[in-house]
Amino acid sequence: MSPTISLPSFLALTVLLANAAHGEPADQALAQKYACMSCHAQAQKLVGPSFDAIKAKYAGNPKAVDALVAVVQKGGSGVWGPVPMPGNPQIPESEARTLVMWILGNK
Ligand code: HEC
Repeated sequence: MSPTISLPSFLALTVLLANAAHGEPADQALAQKYACMSCHAQAQKLVGPSFDAIKAKYAGNPKAVDALVAVVQKGGSGVWGPVPMPGNPQIPESEARTLVMWILGNK
C-alpha cells in the first residue's frame, strides 16, 4: 500500500476544492456552454449589459426572475439599448432559471 498521491490528481483535487469553495463554477460553466459570455461579462458591457448591471437593475424585484427566464429563452429587446438579445429556445426552463438566479446572485 502506498500513501503517495500523484501530482496530477493532487492538482485536480485542489482545483475542485477551490471551485467548490468559490460556489459558482457550475452556473458559470452553464453560461459558457450556452455562449452567454460571448455577449455578456460579469463587470463590463460587451454586446449586452454586464451581469453586475442586470443584477443591480433587478435587485429586490421578485417578479424579475420569471421575466428574465422568458428573455433568456425567447429573447428580448429595448430594455438596455438598440441591440436585441437573441432567444435560446434550446435551453430548458430549469437551466434558464439557474442562469438567471446566478446572474441575480440569489440562489
Ligand atoms: C448575441 C449576443 C447575446 C448573447 C449570446 C446573449 N445575450 Fe443576453 N443580452 C444581449 C443584449 C444585447 C441584451 C440587452 C437587450 C435589451 O436591451 O432588451 C441582453 C440582455 C440580457 C438580460 C437582461 C434582459 C432584460 O430584459 O433586462 C439577461 C438576463 C441576459 N441577457 C442573459 C443572457 C443569458 C443567460 C445568455 C446565455 C443563454 C445570454 N444573455 C446570451 C445580448 C446577448
